[in-house]
Amino acid sequence: MTLLEVKDLKVSFPTADGVVRAVRGVSFTVDAGRTLGIVGESGSGKSVMTQTLLGLTPGGEISGSAVFDGVDLLTLGEDEMRKVRGAQISVIFQDPLTSMHPLYRVGWQISELIRAHDKSVSKREARERSIDLLRRVGIPRPETRVDDYPHQFSGGMRQRAIIAMALALSPKLIIADEPTTALDATVQAQILDLLLELQRESDTALIMITHDMGVVADIADDVMVMYAGRAAERAGKDDIFYAPHHPYTKGLLESIPNSSAGGDRLKPITGQPPSLIRLPSGCKFHPRCGYVMDRCLSEEPTLRPVGDDGYHVSACWLPTAAAGLSEQAEEIRKKTVRAERSEASEQIAEEIAAAPESEGSVI
Ligand SMILES: Nc1ncnc2c1ncn2[C@@H]1O[C@H](COP(=O)(O)OP(=O)(O)OP(=O)(O)O)[C@@H](O)[C@H]1O
Ligand code: SF4
Ligand SMILES: [Mg+2]
Repeated sequence: MTLLEVKDLKVSFPTADGVVRAVRGVSFTVDAGRTLGIVGESGSGKSVMTQTLLGLTPGGEISGSAVFDGVDLLTLGEDEMRKVRGAQISVIFQDPLTSMHPLYRVGWQISELIRAHDKSVSKREARERSIDLLRRVGIPRPETRVDDYPHQFSGGMRQRAIIAMALALSPKLIIADEPTTALDATVQAQILDLLLELQRESDTALIMITHDMGVVADIADDVMVMYAGRAAERAGKDDIFYAPHHPYTKGLLESIPNSSAGGDRLKPITGQPPSLIRLPSGCKFHPRCGYVMDRCLSEEPTLRPVGDDGYHVSACWLPTAAAGLSEQAEEIRKKTVRAERSEASEQIAEEIAAAPESEGSVI
């Protein structure tokens, strides 16, 4: 069952330097009980997009629709939105310290959240529920830990407590924005396991925003790769990892250490993400794309099906047969590129090939 359907979402911010086009027409759906992984370099619009769904982008010019459980979130006023936030959709941010008030006890903060949404719950009941929630997310001795202040918790425990808060009102959707970036690898794996376990128990939908393809590999069902405020590619996880079509997705896979796509080096994608005020012409990835062709300089590709299932879509002019990491796919890409290049695109390709990898951005 589709829980959230986002259609052609656009968000721009007028600034003194010009209009920042942070989200330029993104569409996706999330079903109950499923996890959508959203990946892309810094500045690709991941956070703005999801914050807009929750009315957290003041000053942004917004268009499109985002129907959640039958209601278009983009039409809600602040009061109505407050009822959705936390109770139906909750968010887990990267830094647990900014999500918790340092001067209030952990348990009190969870209890207050519960009581703010349901006045009939007594203080005692709310405290009991907070202890239960802390136990559920794996905090040891929750009966005493409930009275700790956030700084008495380790980073991993704070993030667990944030997850407890996110679960407090049994939301239908959890949006996790880089929830594990600040944590070491072991704690990160524990937190991801925990999220998956809780999701299975309660059929919650999850949107996981991350820079880390490893995290996507671990937990996503579907993946949307974002570039310059748009989806470059969207597919089920296996297609993203084994049959990527968009050269940017391929680049992300190659930047995973030890991946089969990239050998044993950390391989950056050459160049930097574009300015969202002065976007390049044509395909926004063309100044960094090793497969750049003539039409890429003037025509922006839109998403089109590139697989058999109709769900796998990519915004790239390369032929659909170019999907994949095999030698054969690479031959098709090279052959197409040879046929579709003249001087202008040839020159860009040469500059990309000559650029030192160290100048690339590693996500
Ligand atoms: N209020 C605002 N006014 C102007 N520009 C903004 C505003 N909020 C965000 N932006 C810009 O929108 C773009 C997208 O930002 P966003 O935070 O969504 O990126 P992101 O993909 O989440 O990146 P990261 O991976 O670094 O978190 C950035 O260029 C950012 O500077
Ligand atoms: S459209 Fe062209 S520039 Fe853009 S990703 Fe595809 S090949 Fe590269
Ligand atoms: Mg972000």
